[in-house]
Amino acid sequence: MMDLFSQIEEPEREELKDLRKELEEANYKYYVLNMPTLSDREFDEKMHRLQDLEAMYPDMFDPKSPTQHVGSDLEKPHPTSPQGEEKGRKAFETVRHKYPMLSLANSYSREEIEDWVRKLPSGVEIVCELKFDGLSISLWYEHGQLVRALTRGDGVQGDDVIANIKTIPSIPWRIERTDIPDFFELRGEVLLPWERFEALNKEREEQEEPLFANPRNAASGTLKLQDPREVARRGLTAYLYYMLGENLPGKTHYERLATAREWGFNISDAIKVCHSVDEVMAYIAYWDTERKNLPVATDGIVLKVNNLAQQEELGYTAKTPRWAIAYKFPAEKQLTLLKEITYQVGRTGVVTPVANLEPIQLSGTIVQRATLHNEDFIKSLDIRPGDRVWVEKGGEIIPKIVGRDNPTPTLPSREGEGFTFPTVCPECGTPLVRVEGEAAWRCPNEAGCPPQIKGKIEHFVSRKAMNIDGLGEETIDLLYRQGLLHNIADIYDLKLEDIAAQERLGDKSAQNILAGIEASKQVPWARVLFALGIRMVGETTAKKIARVYTSIDSLQWATAEQLCAIEDVGPQIAENIVKYFEDIRNLEILDRLRKAGLQMALSEDEISNLNSQISNVLQGLSIVISGTFSHHSREEYKAMIEAHGGKNVGSVSKKTSFILAGENMGPEKLKKAEALGVKLMTEDEFLEMIK
Ligand code: IVH
Repeated sequence: MMDLFSQIEEPEREELKDLRKELEEANYKYYVLNMPTLSDREFDEKMHRLQDLEAMYPDMFDPKSPTQHVGSDLEKPHPTSPQGEEKGRKAFETVRHKYPMLSLANSYSREEIEDWVRKLPSGVEIVCELKFDGLSISLWYEHGQLVRALTRGDGVQGDDVIANIKTIPSIPWRIERTDIPDFFELRGEVLLPWERFEALNKEREEQEEPLFANPRNAASGTLKLQDPREVARRGLTAYLYYMLGENLPGKTHYERLATAREWGFNISDAIKVCHSVDEVMAYIAYWDTERKNLPVATDGIVLKVNNLAQQEELGYTAKTPRWAIAYKFPAEKQLTLLKEITYQVGRTGVVTPVANLEPIQLSGTIVQRATLHNEDFIKSLDIRPGDRVWVEKGGEIIPKIVGRDNPTPTLPSREGEGFTFPTVCPECGTPLVRVEGEAAWRCPNEAGCPPQIKGKIEHFVSRKAMNIDGLGEETIDLLYRQGLLHNIADIYDLKLEDIAAQERLGDKSAQNILAGIEASKQVPWARVLFALGIRMVGETTAKKIARVYTSIDSLQWATAEQLCAIEDVGPQIAENIVKYFEDIRNLEILDRLRKAGLQMALSEDEISNLNSQISNVLQGLSIVISGTFSHHSREEYKAMIEAHGGKNVGSVSKKTSFILAGENMGPEKLKKAEALGVKLMTEDEFLEMIK
């Protein structure tokens, strides 16, 4: 019978289901994609509401509910997961944790801390620690040897990232002592220090790669990289804060950490044993300010019951220990005046609005500019110059404008029309265009707009591209203004006297620059392709393209459809490449670069190295190449066969698996093939096969 009660209940049951879905999704975005969608506070509020609803409707209990397990960073396929640089493959061993890796309950106020303390035995000692904002890691030591380093994963099992963890100088690979237990585990946080994070993002910006929103995301992306050398270069660090195992020394958490420090582990000095909530609050007040001077990100403090016997008695809920709680620092937020909106034009012509603010002090730095992303962002906040706006710096290094002061409507800035985006390029006056489906306005004057010209040259000479030392931003600007540099090909026409005649540039620097230019002629084809600055063709994509299209000549004639067959190349990138080659100005530049002696094709060595196998779809097959081809050269097909595990042979025999047959195949070969019943395969069929 459908009674009145169930009708009233229905919306709440729906809400419960929706919340489960929303939190599941938020967990996925946070842990797997590194793209948080909810603030910690919003997440906690929704989680509390879900807990309340589940308590009201016990019949809806579900062990899979987000209230019953912690979020997961295990790499798992997901229908909407973007195949970014550091995702989409599973390269780490998944290992079950010896002790589940739990999360911590959060609190945001003195009252909430008092509520927690009230549930503890009276006179309890509380250890206060910094809450490091990175990724948790579990290190296993067997007979003093580091044997595993597991991420939290889903709390039950994690990924073993030991090769990457071993690049962290402060993590010992071996403890040379006799007084240690056979097995123990240390848990802690892996972090990318602020300084390293900023340098990494700067580099990514130069390469037009997506920036990491904060050091936590950067650390997480780094830990999941496949190349420990790159991990080492990025400079991770770690702090440890929890020791587990059987027969461990010490009766308190504090003593255990002191022991771990003695054994050589990096334990923070900021640990303090407190005896009252007042003492805890004083610790919080001190560190809320002082943390701004730390080399790594922190987002709160952690309170732990010191006595281990008491910890055991208090025990755990499904997700968190009862003996510990986190206190989260509030995100720093301030009101300031939005003086003006200016516009920056990037190397690809994207026009980015920038907020120029009355300077304010926020999280230890002076903030006077903040990105406004695009037109839609400004409109959604309904802000205009003259408004007072809220600027926030939370986990993110880049300050954000999160809204405007409510009383703003009475200000003079509110009169008249709202904000409008410029219709012409602020740099060159060309009417801006907005491609359907894209948020950005773009200046289409690629060859005549100064920041685009200079930006392309800067990209071309940058470290991961042609790596021309000495040609920095300022020099490029100088040479551009002198009329000596208009495009990347002009670099190879520069003369010693042109450069040496410039203000601040003597003979010595001019010689260095010329040496750098000369050396760039040996830069391999994949990097030359990246250096050309074709939109969305980043370093990794360029490498993948260069393996298939081993010269500029073959790439030039590739169709969008053929390009899409390359891993990581989608329709948008393919179209950008095709368009690039349709522009006669680019063809002229390419011609000049070729004449200057740049590597516009893979070298023979590289072609033979290509065989460092891409796949084994042709494993065990003997393939004869015959005829002329339209998509690739014979050399390229040979390289492809070998790269996919096959063998290229010269003459047709019984053992031939098939003939890769182009136009005008030799009549002898054709006859032999027919006689032996060897199959012919067209170019397109072959490309489809190795796709
Ligand atoms: S103790 C069972 N101590 O915060 C308790 N965790 O939000 C184990 N964290 O997963 C954690 N600093 O990744 C502890 N001093 C600290 C911490 C800390 C950062 C992280 C840790 C944990 C997360 C919970």
